[in-house]
Amino acid sequence: SNPSLLILPGDGIGPEVMTEVRKIIDWFGARRGLKFDVSEDLVGGAAYDKHGVPLADETMAKAQEVDAVLLGAVGGPKYDDLDFSVKPERGLLRLRKEMDLYSNLRPAQCFDALADFSSLKKDVVAGLDIMIVRELTSGVYFGEPRGIFEEGNERVGINTQRYTESEIERVARSAFELAMRRNKKLCSMEKANVMESGILWREVVTRVGKDYPEVELSHMYADNGAMQLVRAPKQFDVILTDNLFGDILSDCAAMLTGSLGMLPSASLGAPMANGRPKALYEPVHGSAPDIAGQGKANPIACILSFAMALRYSFDQGAEADRLEAAIEKVLADGVRTADLLAEEGVQPVSTSEMGDAIVAALDAS
Ligand code: NAI
Ligand code: MG
Repeated sequence: SNPSLLILPGDGIGPEVMTEVRKIIDWFGARRGLKFDVSEDLVGGAAYDKHGVPLADETMAKAQEVDAVLLGAVGGPKYDDLDFSVKPERGLLRLRKEMDLYSNLRPAQCFDALADFSSLKKDVVAGLDIMIVRELTSGVYFGEPRGIFEEGNERVGINTQRYTESEIERVARSAFELAMRRNKKLCSMEKANVMESGILWREVVTRVGKDYPEVELSHMYADNGAMQLVRAPKQFDVILTDNLFGDILSDCAAMLTGSLGMLPSASLGAPMANGRPKALYEPVHGSAPDIAGQGKANPIACILSFAMALRYSFDQGAEADRLEAAIEKVLADGVRTADLLAEEGVQPVSTSEMGDAIVAALDAS
């Protein structure tokens, strides 16, 4: 049977960018014989409007069954005053939690045509293609004890950085698997010089690395890593790090490459029966209420998220390359949505015109 894909467009620009992804999916079906069993459902505010909850149980069950989930974005001003328990983002959190998606992949990829957009010098970022793997379900954001406590005559705020060996091992394995599919080079970042969890992290990653002798493994203190990411990011391929450092390093890496409208992500969990990990793909951006409904959104982040699904869930690396090359071509031709406009006088294209241009570039590929 065909591989299955659950599409959750969500709110705001989510449905607008997802319409363009559907064109791409249809193209691969018609022109490359790559058929998917696609189903579509509600998440976020859209689910709340229909079901009174931001993710219905049936949708959750479907997400557990499919080969991959592709999500647009959730949230918007209409839902800002809702009770926390039914806020749109709770739909996304439920997906991540119940699918146990512990490995968060954030690529920082610089298309040559957009190198001027980076806050860094063009030659530092041109051709950049790195991937940060961030542990997503443990570490200091979850460790106990946590809270604000009375201590003597003042209060103390406490969080606990805590990692078990198995938590480190599974995300390390996910990063090594990824490295095997890329350039077999992995740099693990922690602070083993000052943190016990860092010492254990380094030890476990080194041990897992023995199962991947082809992968060149290195270790770096995370503060130096931040510096190196800005100084010479092309020295890296896959970077593996914990939840807290990954939060900061991935935002830093994202800005090496320009617009939020260009950034995809994936969250992976344990391998399923078919050997592929449970997976949720989504753009990094939110529902962008300031431009929603105006046809201005850049669909590329969501289309690149589908390219990641092709590569990491459907074993179609060559087709993912084809899709990324089509995007590169369109950008090189000067086609720009409004968020990618640097100079005056260039007319931006609409969301659907960008999607059509990418389909046309695929046709020519
Ligand atoms: P946002 O990412 O939605 O927007 C930030 C800025 O970037 C806005 O000016 C927006 O117009 C622009 N932008 C974002 N994506 C774009 C695209 N594809 N093309 C062109 N411009 C784009 O973040 P913001 O404004 O903080 O949040 C808006 C809503 O989205 C909130 O309700 C928030 O909770 C939600 N949100 C949802 C996320 C998700 O679904 N994963 C992630 C972040 C925020
Ligand atoms: Mg962050």
